[in-house]
Amino acid sequence: MLDNELLKTIRERKMVFKFKDEPVEEEKLNAVLQAGYWSESFGDCEPWQFVVVEDPELKRNLYELTKRVTIYTAGIKNAPVTVAIAITGCGTSHFIEEGAVAAHNMALAAHSLGLGAYWLDVYDLENKKDSVEAEAKKMLGLPDDVRLTYLLPLGHPDQEREETRAKFDDVVHYNKYGNE
Ligand SMILES: Cc1cc2nc3c(=O)[nH]c(=O)nc-3n(C[C@H](O)[C@H](O)[C@H](O)COP(=O)(O)O)c2cc1C
Repeated sequence: MLDNELLKTIRERKMVFKFKDEPVEEEKLNAVLQAGYWSESFGDCEPWQFVVVEDPELKRNLYELTKRVTIYTAGIKNAPVTVAIAITGCGTSHFIEEGAVAAHNMALAAHSLGLGAYWLDVYDLENKKDSVEAEAKKMLGLPDDVRLTYLLPLGHPDQEREETRAKFDDVVHYNKYGNE
């Protein structure tokens, strides 16, 4: 099987939601943000705005808020940094994918640098005024017309995770679904 550093990073990245009490080095944080910045986007519109959250009180508030939508929120409180991925859009409906592409690029970059990350979905499909997304946007000072897609807690991993992938041959099909 062909192999290289990128393929190895893709294979070995795992979601990390427990972090050591250690700061993220500035140059590593910058490299992770650059990985988001170099993502692809619909119509090449480069819709991302990244808000780097390091303030302990803001992290605590985001943690309390996101408990409403997901379980592994403690990472926000414990991670030294959380990156909020906001999408300005270009009149397209692709904000979720654009946030996801950037989140995954950043998670891969983090892993390649010995860091770990995981994504927390915060977008509200109906974009309701009282949603977690709307409240998180207020906390972060984001304008109304910007969508907040994911929060990405980031730090030095403090956990081991076992590999639990499905078998490769069970998910790849040629020409027609089914492997008979
Ligand atoms: C689109 C997407 C959304 C996710 N949202 C959340 C989330 O809201 N909360 C969470 O704890 N993990 C979230 N995750 C992380 C997944 O649960 C995790 O990737 C999955 O369990 C597989 O583990 P692995 O990444 O270590 O292979 C998300 C992952 C993806 C790709």
